[in-house]
Formats: sequence, structure tokens, C-alpha cells
Amino acid sequence: MNDLDLLVQAAEADFAAATGAAALEDAKARYLGKAGRVTEQLKAMAALPHEQKKTRGAEINQAKARIESALQARREALAAAELEAQLRAEALDVTLPGRRRGNGGLHPVSRTIERIEAIFGSMGFDVADGPEIETDWMSFTALNNPENHPARSMQDTFYVELKDAEGRWLNLRPHTSPMQVRYARAHAAKYANLDPMPEIRVIAPGRVYRVDSDATHSPMFHQIEGLWLGENVSFKDLKVVFADFIGRFFETDDFDVRFRPSYFPFTEPSAEIDIRFGSGPLAGKWLEVAGSGQVHPNVVRNFGLDPEKNIGFAFGIGADRFAMLRYGIDDLRLMFDGDLRFLSQFN
Ligand code: DAH
Repeated sequence: MNDLDLLVQAAEADFAAATGAAALEDAKARYLGKAGRVTEQLKAMAALPHEQKKTRGAEINQAKARIESALQARREALAAAELEAQLRAEALDVTLPGRRRGNGGLHPVSRTIERIEAIFGSMGFDVADGPEIETDWMSFTALNNPENHPARSMQDTFYVELKDAEGRWLNLRPHTSPMQVRYARAHAAKYANLDPMPEIRVIAPGRVYRVDSDATHSPMFHQIEGLWLGENVSFKDLKVVFADFIGRFFETDDFDVRFRPSYFPFTEPSAEIDIRFGSGPLAGKWLEVAGSGQVHPNVVRNFGLDPEKNIGFAFGIGADRFAMLRYGIDDLRLMFDGDLRFLSQFN
């Protein structure tokens, strides 16, 4: 190995030792710069006898070319390593699922209420809503509840520490029945100069409140009130409408409807409505699904109407119960825990 081979070897080792572009440029200057070792060799040729100059010059140029190509190779290697490191640092896992905003959805009770509204709406029923904080008169008195009725007690009904114009505590309505009164009174006022007055057909869904809490009772739950009042609306009409509603809600013809005598202060006669499916998961059992009855003459008077001319019926259904029957839910509390794992199943 001659001195030039050693020089090339030294340059290659220096380049390899440079771990960044700046260090590599320093190393380059040590060989190829103005005072570099290759340049020194070229200058030293001046002292050589003429006949040696040609071969020595060619040898030095060859060595210089090898050093330049080693330099170029090292530059490329460093650039590649830098790119590699950058790619690694900015790595993207394209197989990760994207992060997106969750889809919202309707609560099963809301879906159920919408479904019931659509069915009754198609039968000509209006949909109304009203206040959840009610007066004593609307929740009880107008609905023919006697003064000492247990529903009025603190054990059964939530009261608000605010009094109405009559000096009675306001309540969180314990049922949607006050909506019969509110709607009928507004209707009577609106059509005061029409005789006969157009029929009242309305459902009123909404939240209701009672002092009650276990697997089948929640202090807040949902009812849907119904009222159909005209010149001569009968129990037969109620039965037809209700059976039609049940068939459409549960999407089956295979069921029976039964009216079981009952008592409510605001209806006379009163009945519980039971249904029994002939097939499906609920087959064979009578299920109580609504309270109903012919609207009591005192209540019709409180509507501001003549009970001789305005005959009809009312009903109240539990919206949560309908949701549970439709979706096969067995614990009412699941409805109001707000657990998305449960709720997202309905959308
Ligand atoms: N308001 C009653 C309750 O909360 C339900 C009810 C029964 C409503 C009979 C009615 C009815 O309209 O006619 O238990």
C-alpha cells in the first residue's frame, strides 16, 4: 500500500466517523480544502523531477477521485439516515381506527313517544304538551279528586316551595291528566262560538313525578294522556282506537284487549285496559297497559263545557312501560341510568 492508498483510507475513516453534515464538511476540508492533505500532495509535485510529474499527478488525481466519491457516498448515507430518523419520528399508524365524534341518538323512551305520536296523529289526534310544575287545581281539583285524596299527600306527590294564586303549593305533576283540562279549556275558548264545537282529540306525552323508587317505579317517568271528547264518543270507540293503536305499535294482529272495571276520580265508569298477546315473547299473559274511562261530568264542567253535550273518554298510558314491552327491557332503572352501553343499542 503506498502513501496515496493510506491517504484514501484515512479519508474514508474520517468520513465514516462524521455523524452529521457539519462534521463531514470539516473532514472534507482536511483532505480537499486549500490546506488539505490532497492539495498538499499536489503542491509537493512542484519539487519532483519533470519525468515523474506526470505519473505522480495521475496517481494523486485518482486518489482524489476516490476520496470525492467516498465523500459523496457518505453524504448520501447521512441524508438517508436523517430521512429515516425523521420518518420514524413522524410515524403514522394508518391502521389505527380514526377518532370521530360519537353519533347521538334518541332515548328508547323518546323513540317510543314519537312512535305513539305518529300512530295517534294518523288517527286525527293532536299532540300537546304543558307544564311539569302544576297548580293544585289542575293536578287534582279540576280532575275531581276529593280534598283528602291520598294522591295529594306529601308521601305521594312532590311539592314545590312556591304557592299558586289560590295559596296552594305548586306540585310536580303526578300525572299528565291536567293536560286534559288545559287542552279542553283552550279548545272550548277557541271554538266558543261554534255549535257544535269540533271534537277534541288529543294526546299529551310528558314527564310526571311521584315519590316512588324501585325496580318498577322511578320518581320521574313518562305518561301519555289521551282525550277524545265529542257529542257522543263511546267506550266502543275507545276500544276500536286502542286496539288499532296496540296492533300498530306492536306490529301484530295476534292479541286481545280487555277492559277491567277500575276506579279513577276523573272518569266514570273507569277501566284498566289489559292486552294479551297470542304469540311472541310476551304471549299468554294479561298485561296492564292503560287506565281509562268516560270523562266524569264534573271534569267536563271544569273544562268549561256542558257534560250533556260533551261525552267522551280519556286514557293514560305509561310510555316507559310501552318502551320496555317493545324492547324487552326488564328493569325500569336502566332507562334513567344514562349508561351509553345500554342506550346505544336502540339506535
Ligand atoms: N292519571 C292516571 C294515573 O296517573 C292514569 C289515567 C287513568 C289517565 C284513567 C286517564 C284515565 O286519562 O282516564 O294513574
